[in-house]
Amino acid sequence: MRETIRAKGPQSFACFMQQALYHPEHGYYSSGRCVIGRNGDYFTNVSVGSVFGQLLVAQFHEIWERLGRTNDFVIIEQGSHDGQFALDVLEFAQTRFPEFFDALRYQIIEPFPKLEQQQRQKLEAFGGKVTWPDSLQPFTGVHFSNELLDAMPVRLIRDGTEKLVGLDDDNFVFVERPQGTTASQPSGDNSAFNQAALELIDQIAANLQRGYVIAIDYGFLDEQFERDVQIRARHRNLDSPFDQIGCADITTSVHWRSIAERAQANRLRVAGFTDQHHFLTGIISRFESYDPRSVTDAKQRPGVPSVLGNSPKAKRELQTLLHPEMLGRAFQVLALEKNVDRETKPLSGFKFATESPSALRLTDPVS
Ligand SMILES: C[S@@+](CC[C@H](N)C(=O)[O-])C[C@H]1O[C@@H](n2cnc3c(N)ncnc32)[C@H](O)[C@@H]1O
Repeated sequence: MRETIRAKGPQSFACFMQQALYHPEHGYYSSGRCVIGRNGDYFTNVSVGSVFGQLLVAQFHEIWERLGRTNDFVIIEQGSHDGQFALDVLEFAQTRFPEFFDALRYQIIEPFPKLEQQQRQKLEAFGGKVTWPDSLQPFTGVHFSNELLDAMPVRLIRDGTEKLVGLDDDNFVFVERPQGTTASQPSGDNSAFNQAALELIDQIAANLQRGYVIAIDYGFLDEQFERDVQIRARHRNLDSPFDQIGCADITTSVHWRSIAERAQANRLRVAGFTDQHHFLTGIISRFESYDPRSVTDAKQRPGVPSVLGNSPKAKRELQTLLHPEMLGRAFQVLALEKNVDRETKPLSGFKFATESPSALRLTDPVS
């Protein structure tokens, strides 16, 4: 990065973030240094416990039913980290939704060999059920991600001024320039500040044949959007992205409107948008609709006991995920759909949604 800046002048923050997180050897994620959870750098929904994955199984199961219980149903996860979410989903589906389990295949899109290795180890018991394609392939089913979009490199642009990364001696520093005046981004360049996230949406949309995209992350509709980055290591916020490079996480809030607009430009429909509290509460209500009399073996009943907090541990996990002052309001959920019959009822996760798709104020080009 220093050599590039010396040779070509200041570079966009997106270039710096790309190197700091994804440099093949030294990147925070690609090196395998990132640890999530109590003994790591930060918590995610997945690291709270297996209840999160278990609840999502009920949502995936409903999607499978909407797609006519196809036996060619694929769950694609991107940003899988150590494979814990996949494990939670597969274990729960196997014991509580066996027919669904038989019909599904699980794919993980993982660019980093060290992480793929961790995932393969963790998911050994599920042998042929899980595959690791090199890139997204055409699929019917659901594309799922938790905190993937916030890890995509961004440019720091505000009011026509861009914060670039330059050097003061050997130290990285921010330098401000009118937008679009770096050597690598010539004047007049109009690529978006979150170009990488938008391109990811293009790729997903190009490969989704029929089904849904569910993205969970923290962010804002544009009114309250903050164009800033958060840097975290060992559960502490750092002041500068130039501290502990390659050992700290760098993220930015997701700009949901631009993601939804890009999806619509790719002929996806917004199927729902809400906060995590309302999303998970809607899914929990789905468990009430399963008729326990249809299943004689209590263990085979779709999930109710462990998910609804029968054990103190599961109760605590559920509280952390749902509580408005914990993760319940910090995270939002966007669902997109393609080539599915327009149901009058929303997916269970959006049954109690506070924001209707129209809150994104998007017109619907596909209707
Ligand atoms: C914040 S972590 C989230 C991990 C996990 N989903 C969780 O909730 O615990 C973001 C993950 O996205 C991964 N990632 C970044 N770009 C990616 C891409 N293009 N394809 C797949 N994974 C990617 C990173 O390697 C990292 O593991």
